[in-house]
Amino acid sequence: LSSIEVDVKAIAVGQAITVKWRGKPVFIRHRTKEEITEAEDVKLSELPDPETDNARVTDLAKKVRPEWLIVVGVCTHLGCVPLGNKPGDPRGEYGGWFCPCHGSQYDTSGRIRKGPAPKNLAVPGYLFTTDTLVRIG
Ligand code: FES
Repeated sequence: LSSIEVDVKAIAVGQAITVKWRGKPVFIRHRTKEEITEAEDVKLSELPDPETDNARVTDLAKKVRPEWLIVVGVCTHLGCVPLGNKPGDPRGEYGGWFCPCHGSQYDTSGRIRKGPAPKNLAVPGYLFTTDTLVRIG
């Protein structure tokens, strides 16, 4: 399938799920207020791959939904799947995801902060068709 529709109603604040899209894992995280603030407050000059948080939580209709972060769950170093979605998973020093292969650390916006990965986790094109239904792709 080139696009999928996901009902995000059941994802509690602070939780994340993994869905499959075009053979790849996609992470959908329902961010807490603290996670959003943390992501927004980072200076672009501190980022290896500078991107505002706002740009990463904007859907195809240009609507910004800071509570929902949707990223492709493939480490931009050598393609491992970072940890951080399951309860008890390490999320790394920046509270996002931690790649177990070579230690890349991503923040609560899925941006690379430390380790060998060169790029942020990719944001796929997505569109919220209602407040709780999102089409990815
Ligand atoms: Fe993730 Fe190398 S594949 S750090």
